[in-house]
Amino acid sequence: MYICLCKGVTDHQIRDAIADGACSMRDLRAALDVANQCGKCGRDCKSLLAESAVSSSHTTAMPQQWVAA
Ligand code: FES
Repeated sequence: MYICLCKGVTDHQIRDAIADGACSMRDLRAALDVANQCGKCGRDCKSLLAESAVSSSHTTAMPQQWVAA
């Protein structure tokens, strides 16, 4: 699904950038040029960043044997 219509950036591209180490809006702007035109995608980008932070904190809180399975 397109998140940034101005730049034609999808949620998959944003998730890939986050997986590659982007952890802030500044990082996403630098990697994908999102939220640099009309800015309407900023809220959705922040939601994807927050979603990623929550899922990674859950992953680190799990016992290693659960993560590896
Ligand atoms: Fe992303 Fe306009 S929708 S800058």
